[in-house]
Amino acid sequence: MSNYQPTTVPDGPTDGSVTPATVESVTQSLADAQISESSASAIKPADPSQAYEQLVTPWDVQGSISADGKQLAIDYDKLVDQFGTRRVDTTLLERLIPRCFLREFDKILDRYEQGKPFFLYTGRGPSSDSMHIGHMIPFLFTKWLQDVFDVPLVVQLTDDEKFLFKHELKAEQTQQFSRSNAKDIIAMGFDVNKTFIFSDFEYVGGPFYRNVVKISRQISYNQSKATFGFNDSDNIGKIHFCAVQAAPSFSNSFPHIFGEVSNIPCLIPCAIDQDPYFRLTRDVAQKLKYPKPSLIHSRFFPALQGPQTKMSASDANSSIFMTDTPNQIKNKINKHGFSGGRETEEEHRKYGGDTEVDVAYQYLSFFLDDDEELAKIGEDYRAGHLLTGQLKARCIQMLQEFVRVFQERRAKVTDEDVNMFMDASRKIDPNFGKRSQTS
Ligand code: TYM
Ligand code: TRP
Repeated sequence: MSNYQPTTVPDGPTDGSVTPATVESVTQSLADAQISESSASAIKPADPSQAYEQLVTPWDVQGSISADGKQLAIDYDKLVDQFGTRRVDTTLLERLIPRCFLREFDKILDRYEQGKPFFLYTGRGPSSDSMHIGHMIPFLFTKWLQDVFDVPLVVQLTDDEKFLFKHELKAEQTQQFSRSNAKDIIAMGFDVNKTFIFSDFEYVGGPFYRNVVKISRQISYNQSKATFGFNDSDNIGKIHFCAVQAAPSFSNSFPHIFGEVSNIPCLIPCAIDQDPYFRLTRDVAQKLKYPKPSLIHSRFFPALQGPQTKMSASDANSSIFMTDTPNQIKNKINKHGFSGGRETEEEHRKYGGDTEVDVAYQYLSFFLDDDEELAKIGEDYRAGHLLTGQLKARCIQMLQEFVRVFQERRAKVTDEDVNMFMDASRKIDPNFGKRSQTS
């Protein structure tokens, strides 16, 4: 926890959702832990003439800026060191390998092997009506984990968080967004018998709220400030909110699923921007004698402008929304999609393109199931045989298809479905996994 040093910057437009006054700067190595207030406060620099470390918080994601002023892609090796997570063991889950980072995932796998229960927990901050394609990543991932492990899943919709952090939104609006976002999530195909989706505004109370309060008593004002970089003029709700996001990590927050049992651990799929919340949660778990949550972090889906930052809903031009039309997708990729290609066709054919920074290639790498096709596209592009226009055309086709299929399913989700998924009085399938049924 001591390997990063939070600092503050003035309020300003930020990623995702919130207008926080804060950033948490991450430092180059575990050893040299400090980064000065002055360099960090310039992390959203107008002036890139200085070198900066990369920045990853729940609100902001920026690659580092090199001495010559270039903004670099997010360095995941560095993040793994800084946050103390581990890369996925290649022998375990081959398909996940290139895409995620783990914290104590082996514990969960051991339990699975032994037929012992665990559950999945993930969430979404309903800041707008529609989710973007980057938000699909942790949910696709969660869906895959639910299919493989056949375990209960809880999905927290933090309408309270978005109300506290986005001053332009009304409480009624964020609660409404919860319901429309729930439809997006349901459209991904979760099993209603094993999935509970809840809005904080609707659900918080009872044993869940008791956990919120127990958690908040373990977190000092200083700790919350330091972890999220709040300042003295931030509203007190922001300072307390981390207790609300921590509570679903503990099984006794959900009496209709787990009864009063408090020792069933959870696995949290999310992107690494959420890690500050769960580093705190893991600390608190120990103090409350609850099991610590395990985490599985997916990579960021890059912004259209390039891999130095994540796709974020607050910048419409950085994002492809799940409500976009085929034409909008085409125009966004063609106009804004950062290219690793060369200036001219001649140069491109001679020197080849750079797949590391090419957004169309990166998007394909997330969604293309055919590894061989992806490898071939990469080779051809780097060799200069495949041109930027051709690469973008393949990417557009793939995204249009993904979004089309999603929209078809989304259109079929009814208000009745939402009520079912969000019904806290029904019983959730108590079976934990096919294996535990037989063992
Ligand atoms: P939110 O709504 O900002 O993001 C929802 C989930 O999407 C991930 N994410 C991304 N993943 C890949 N590429 C991107 N470009 C990208 N942008 C966002 C986020 O990491 C997150 O997993 N405070 C949370 C809500 C929450 C939550 C949770 C999230 C409550 N409990 C438990 C994860 C796990 C929020 O505002 O997420
Ligand atoms: N097609 C992917 C798969 O099954 C799904 C996916 C896309 C995914 N992006 C992801 C899974 C990111 C995990 C992480 O492997």
